[in-house]
Amino acid sequence: MTADDVTYLPEAPAHDLEIEAINEEAFGPGRFVRAAHKIRERGPHERALSFVAVHDGAVIASVRMTRVAAGEGRALMLGPLAVKPAYKNIGIGRRLVKIALEAAEAWGAPAVMLVGDEPYYGPLGFKRIPRGQISMPRPVDLGRLLAVEIQPGAVAALTGMVDHEDQMKVVA
Ligand SMILES: CC(C)(COP(=O)(O)OP(=O)(O)OC[C@H]1O[C@@H](n2cnc3c(N)ncnc32)[C@H](O)[C@@H]1OP(=O)(O)O)[C@@H](O)C(=O)NCCC(=O)NCCS
Repeated sequence: MTADDVTYLPEAPAHDLEIEAINEEAFGPGRFVRAAHKIRERGPHERALSFVAVHDGAVIASVRMTRVAAGEGRALMLGPLAVKPAYKNIGIGRRLVKIALEAAEAWGAPAVMLVGDEPYYGPLGFKRIPRGQISMPRPVDLGRLLAVEIQPGAVAALTGMVDHEDQMKVVA
């Protein structure tokens, strides 16, 4: 197969079980204690901004996006991103990130952030968030906190603890 045989679709509830299996294979049980997971379990992800790659009717890769807030800043958090091992290294991961970034921009997201490897995400436009500017609910390597700024000043507006945006709305 080639990358041309892959279809990219917005995520639907029918994809949930296959996505869970892909993430389990990619990250193992450790995924439940990751800093980003702690945020994701505090509210829903945005299905319309999350995407799957499909080949022969099966989901082979997934990227999810979740609304987050930190201080006055708002962003989408990208992840998990995972590709089935048999389909790695043919550009599916990069394509999913690009599709998710385009959708985020069209939706009006100020920024997209994530916890991930700079060598992978750097060429896709992600830059390090200055050390100490934001913190996560679990320890992370600060060099792995990356963001793409869509609206000027949006990354600088992200300060302090990152949480699901819905949790910020609860306080009043
Ligand atoms: C990381 C992952 C999503 C990449 O998806 P993919 O479809 O295989 O990647 P692509 O085909 O788009 O890109 C492949 C390139 O990225 C590189 N790459 C893959 N993972 C990388 C990483 N962690 N850091 C740096 N480069 C990486 C490959 O070496 C390859 O380089 P090349 O183009 O110079 O040959 C996939 O390997 C995966 O699911 N890994 C397990 C889960 C994971 O680590 N997710 C990311 C969490 S932040």
